[in-house]
Amino acid sequence: MGFIPSCDFVSSVVDEFENTTLVCPRLHFSLPADDTGELPSAPSENMKTTLSFSKPAEVETESLVAVVLDHAQQDPGQGNKNKEAKQQLKVDADDAAVQSVAADLLASGEVTCKPLEINLMHKPAGLRAKRILLVSGGGAKKFKAYDLRRVAGAAVRSLKSRGIRGFAFVAPSSIPAEEAVRAIVEGAFIGNFDPDYYRSDRKDQKIDTLTIITSGDKVALEKAAIEAQIIGESQNFTRDLVNEPSNRMTPTILAERAKTMCQEVGLKCEVYGADKIKEMKMGAFWSVAQGSDEPPALIVMKYEPAGAPDKPVLGLVGKGITFDTGGISIKPADGMEKMKYDMAGGATMIGAMRAIALLKPKVKVIGIVCATENMPSGKAQKPGDVQIAMSGKSIEIINTDAEGRLVLADGLFYARQLGCTHLVDAATLTGAVVVALGYANAGVFSNDDALYERFRTANEKAGEKMWRLPLDDEYKENIKSSIADMVNSGGRWGGAINAAMFLKEFAEDTPWIHLDIAGTAWMEEQKPWIAKGPSGIALRSLVQFVKDFAG
Ligand code: BES
Ligand code: MN
Ligand code: ZN
Repeated sequence: MGFIPSCDFVSSVVDEFENTTLVCPRLHFSLPADDTGELPSAPSENMKTTLSFSKPAEVETESLVAVVLDHAQQDPGQGNKNKEAKQQLKVDADDAAVQSVAADLLASGEVTCKPLEINLMHKPAGLRAKRILLVSGGGAKKFKAYDLRRVAGAAVRSLKSRGIRGFAFVAPSSIPAEEAVRAIVEGAFIGNFDPDYYRSDRKDQKIDTLTIITSGDKVALEKAAIEAQIIGESQNFTRDLVNEPSNRMTPTILAERAKTMCQEVGLKCEVYGADKIKEMKMGAFWSVAQGSDEPPALIVMKYEPAGAPDKPVLGLVGKGITFDTGGISIKPADGMEKMKYDMAGGATMIGAMRAIALLKPKVKVIGIVCATENMPSGKAQKPGDVQIAMSGKSIEIINTDAEGRLVLADGLFYARQLGCTHLVDAATLTGAVVVALGYANAGVFSNDDALYERFRTANEKAGEKMWRLPLDDEYKENIKSSIADMVNSGGRWGGAINAAMFLKEFAEDTPWIHLDIAGTAWMEEQKPWIAKGPSGIALRSLVQFVKDFAG
């Protein structure tokens, strides 16, 4: 299949002990440069993806994968009778050989068809494949691309844990071919990611070759597969950035990663340091950065394709706190190690810009990441301090742990100064959004219903779970200050909304979406389709949103 960008080179960073450290661009490993021993082989970046238009029985592979669905009539009005309805399990494929090889197992009553249940058969009769893996997709009526993505992820994780490196997925016939190809490729890439690079005993089990058995318009399907691969890889690129601990992902290193990526895909990238941040009077951003010995970085990535109209200009603004101690309002020790992922919003924007540059939609996009640590020190800001943001608005600092909104205040205002007509920000902004929505949904906020509607459509296509929360004027009371224009913390009740209300003061009348991904950027547990650790949430929705703007 056509071009797939690869990144088989290393770049270097200097660590604390002045050793030059080799770092794989996708950060799979790092070793001292003078180590003469054998380099551990970095898992190759790309899973080779191909389409096959053959009959499943003809495909030679370590394993076929097919989806099983339950076709029992499930009428929601039927109440209890439902439970007694007998299951009617069928492989979701228009293929007699695959149907017949699964028939006995599916008739045995041993398969519950609970979503993502796995059954593996060896030497399937009449097929050239060595195995067939049946993954349950649950009820046939409810089975959508969203579920197929997870099925593909679960297939990858199940097969690679068995040491298998290649398989062929029989695209289900119940989902339109193009949509199915996209979901399978995206899901497979997401499943293929593991975050255990620093474990000496890691197995590096991964899938190298993915074949999708499908039928239809070859050109359209190949385009779908390539686009989905770009999105899946970009999501994993983001997850790699988020996965790194803060000593290996300082604002400077994050900026280097962004620059390298931008060079690779042909984006303009500028990185500004402390002097420029002060010169531009980004008092809110600097108030957080001033407490850290690690220099901050304002990362600006520009995508300006030939032939794009002057407007709209979409601004993607990310929170890039590479470690959040809370500052002087310091966090408790328990769980603080997780605050290395407080740059997930920024990493999402960097990954999204990568995908956008490769997908080439005809619309201008500017990506901005405000990267800094939030540290307590003799130079750190203190509760009660008053800061003047770039926009000129004054902020009374109540809690130095409410730092994300401070860096974003200047990031959003700066994006508007650069000419952005529409804004989206992503941030691990509040613990309160986790109280409100748990780990299942990210919080969405908007000051513009039409823009929200656009985003919701993209979000649904991308198959990510998000839920809108309100921004009524009543909440503005919570961020009133007696000494300045606003406080940076509105207290506990409605904490996610108070934070969003604060940001709204800086988006002003520019149509704006805010994504609070504090509960969704990190998987607390592994799931059958995804590893524990960084999730890469919001990237797919953002990329779809941008693509839809280009028409
Ligand atoms: N980075 C945190 C939010 C967070 C919490 C992210 C849990 C991921 C998981 C943010 O900077 C923060 O500390 N927010 C405070 C705000 C409060 C002081 C108003 C919070 O949520 O407690
Ligand atoms: Mn904080
Ligand atoms: Zn934070």
